[in-house]
Amino acid sequence: MDHNETIRREFTHQAESFGKPGLTLSSQEYLAWMVDILPLNPEFRVLDVATGTGHLSRAIAPHVSQVVAIDMTPKMLEKAKEEAAKAGLGNIIFEEGDAAALPYQDNSFDMVVSRLAIHHFEKPQLQLREMIRVCKTDHAVGIIDLLSPSDQSVIETYNRLERMRDASHTLALTKDQLAEAMEAAGLSISGMDSRDIQVDFGLWAEMTATDPHTKGEISKELEQELRGGAKTGMRPFMQDGKLKFLHTWCVAIGIKK
Ligand SMILES: C[S@@+](CC[C@H](N)C(=O)[O-])C[C@H]1O[C@@H](n2cnc3c(N)ncnc32)[C@H](O)[C@@H]1O
Repeated sequence: MDHNETIRREFTHQAESFGKPGLTLSSQEYLAWMVDILPLNPEFRVLDVATGTGHLSRAIAPHVSQVVAIDMTPKMLEKAKEEAAKAGLGNIIFEEGDAAALPYQDNSFDMVVSRLAIHHFEKPQLQLREMIRVCKTDHAVGIIDLLSPSDQSVIETYNRLERMRDASHTLALTKDQLAEAMEAAGLSISGMDSRDIQVDFGLWAEMTATDPHTKGEISKELEQELRGGAKTGMRPFMQDGKLKFLHTWCVAIGIKK
């Protein structure tokens, strides 16, 4: 199956789950952390690439003049429009399109952001170059994503488990690889801030409707690690009788040269 079809299939399934409470991606605390770091300005027109159901767009909208939010999965955009209307936000425009061929002119946005999407791209250089192309020179591109652990010995296992849960996951970059990819695409890194995020295993697997057999296979590897078995890079732990693990999220700001 073509990767774009995999993306649309996965996110058509996931669209309803994106608004559920308790998920890391809807956490207001983490969104506030991101908004605080992004160099927003009330006069800015900002592009949010792969907006999904628009969590980041809604967090940014009160701080800027307009957000243009683009995604390739119609069902995600449908939810995004509903949520923006519920929140009474009239300055977000939602558009359907591919991040690898953004339907905008060169230098047309004051800032470009993208959250939790790089690890779904097959060749992130393509999408990064597009984000940079449509951003004004000397302005910021903010990339927020899940990172792979820096320990080389667990990167393969870590990404294999993520792909078992969600077939549209390609590869999470390490912090150094993300910086290198952004620099290679034409940005000068002005800041990178990362933090560990606790994830509830049950909610994580429920969100993607991962089938019970696969869910069991993933949890088996995490439980083996808890008993001293091979490291997975997921850093599992038990809390209040629940299996949890850690993700690392990074907010990286690059300035278009
Ligand atoms: C994990 S969701 C993240 C959504 C949102 N940015 C957030 O942080 O809540 C990934 C989104 O990327 C979108 N996506 C993946 N590849 C894309 C592409 N090439 N062009 C546009 N959207 C894409 C999917 O449709 C999905 O909505």
